[in-house]
Amino acid sequence: MIELVGEETQSMIKLAGATVRLGGRRVFGDVELTVEPGQLVAVLGPNGGGKTTLMRMILGLVPLEAGSATVLGRPPAQARPAIGYLPQRRSFDSSTRIRGIDLVRLGLDGARWGIPIPVTSTARRRRRAETTRVGEVIELVGATTYARRAIGELSGGEQQRLLIAQALIRKPRLLILDEPLDSLDLPNQAAVAGLLRRICSIEGVSVLLVAHDVNPLLGSLDQVIYLAGGRARSGTVDEVITSSTLTQLYGAPIEVLQTTDGRLVVVGQPEAPHHHGHRHELVG
Ligand SMILES: Nc1ncnc2c1ncn2[C@@H]1O[C@H](COP(=O)(O)OP(=O)(O)OP(=O)(O)O)[C@@H](O)[C@H]1O
Ligand SMILES: [Mg+2]
Repeated sequence: MIELVGEETQSMIKLAGATVRLGGRRVFGDVELTVEPGQLVAVLGPNGGGKTTLMRMILGLVPLEAGSATVLGRPPAQARPAIGYLPQRRSFDSSTRIRGIDLVRLGLDGARWGIPIPVTSTARRRRRAETTRVGEVIELVGATTYARRAIGELSGGEQQRLLIAQALIRKPRLLILDEPLDSLDLPNQAAVAGLLRRICSIEGVSVLLVAHDVNPLLGSLDQVIYLAGGRARSGTVDEVITSSTLTQLYGAPIEVLQTTDGRLVVVGQPEAPHHHGHRHELVG
């Protein structure tokens, strides 16, 4: 693992005035975000709001048009080896024969950054250390009982846990998960949210996850960033998921209601992506 001077006190992510343009169109502008070590942060917003683009920018896969981005104290592309990334995806086809445990081990392939194994190790010792780590992350995500089954046979929630294990295997300092709760039922969404919270503590990692619904995450989040209308607001849930903040972002009247059991309901959220300079109809 690359060691940095003073890394304990350093922010994991620092975005200032971050602006991204793709295909001649501005996806978002002036994004401000600071993520501290051990934080769990949700990235929220409508389809096409720029959530995946923001993740790809933090990974150094999409360039900035303006502003600055520092990840683990470095330019994003240089930090990438220390980031675990789970891209947005569909579920595995039921004919996928690879076993869960082998899928997790695949996370070790490529550049051997971050593996806590001395380079002087013999191949055999390295292999043993890798096997130990595979078992460790599978246990961490609670997948031990089904890790030896074919991934295509597993439920969406089980597949998701194994993919999180794969993203964790190289001991990343930052974990970026694009819609890890997608296609999970509510109890499983809450369970994976709790799991990510534990991972932040146990592995000392910061987690940035894209989500569509904040509710399963409410008890677990340190902060949120909400992208809509080409703009973003970051802060605590109480600061960001409010009628006035979302109305400002969307440029249209949005109402945030709270149910008696504490869940948040966003009313008037436009269905279609909304960008600067476009007018849209309110739905609902
Ligand atoms: N390579 C690209 N070239 C041009 N436009 C792009 C490119 N990638 C993304 N976009 C556009 O940028 C906008 C944001 O896309 P992005 O995938 O980041 O949204 P998202 O918030 O992740 O949406 P979803 O919730 O559907 O995953 C969209 O309008 C999309 O069409
Ligand atoms: Mg996306």
